[in-house]
Amino acid sequence: MASDADQGRALSFDAVAAQYAAARPGYPSDLFDAVEELAGRTLVGADVLDCGAGTGIATGLLCERGARVVALEPGAGMAAELRRAEPEVPLVRGEGNRLPFASGSFDVITYAQAWHWTDPACSVPEALRVLRPHGVLALWRNHADLGVAWVAAEEDRLAPFIHSRPMNVPVVFAPFPVRVTTREIAWSRRIAVEERIRNLATLSHFVVMDPVERAELLGLNRTALTRLFPDGELDEPYRCVLTLVRPTDIQA
Ligand SMILES: C[S@@+](CC[C@H](N)C(=O)[O-])C[C@H]1O[C@@H](n2cnc3c(N)ncnc32)[C@H](O)[C@@H]1O
Repeated sequence: MASDADQGRALSFDAVAAQYAAARPGYPSDLFDAVEELAGRTLVGADVLDCGAGTGIATGLLCERGARVVALEPGAGMAAELRRAEPEVPLVRGEGNRLPFASGSFDVITYAQAWHWTDPACSVPEALRVLRPHGVLALWRNHADLGVAWVAAEEDRLAPFIHSRPMNVPVVFAPFPVRVTTREIAWSRRIAVEERIRNLATLSHFVVMDPVERAELLGLNRTALTRLFPDGELDEPYRCVLTLVRPTDIQA
């Protein structure tokens, strides 16, 4: 069960929703190729439920791949941004631990950067209930690529303040009748140093931090990055980790 602090962080994004939409990274097309390959089906025409859809970053990319997407989002601020970005996409206010959908409604359920906010004891059975036979659950997350020196140095500077919530895949899914496959995709985007700072400021730990402390930490980081990248731009490298979960107790 999530602690009160975790619950507060889970919905903290509402306070920075516009900045989140502008500064957070997207996901590479290789990721969606991998979803299709591991799922053994195309996204074109698939009924997809995008859970924890936030401002619609993954939702929009799924639509571009030809999926028929329904977005699910608990936060009012994030939902308002999603309505602006993807006005055609049906949006349902709700959360992954109690999916407000009938059993067998979707071919694919996705959680982009959002699964770690759910309680797997509830969200796994709910996903399995709402998936159609042969449906799949696809979870992914952009991790900072610590193999790159400046990212590792930044992590050392900021780690005491931004503990991420790692997912132990074998432990999380072991109790359930599922088969799990993972894939890691390296990618990067070129952005201004200032955009890196704006991106970091939307991480939940920074959002809930005392504003003076936040400004001080991000300021220190800006100074370090500006020294490293005097032309004001950097390649922001990610390792996007995909976990594809397939129910095993379906009738063939
Ligand atoms: C880091 S954002 C990811 C947003 C979007 N999927 C993306 O790729 O940018 C996490 C989102 O999960 C939502 N969230 C928090 N708790 C949740 C829950 N229990 N079920 C579903 N979504 C949740 C938050 O409101 C937030 O919009």
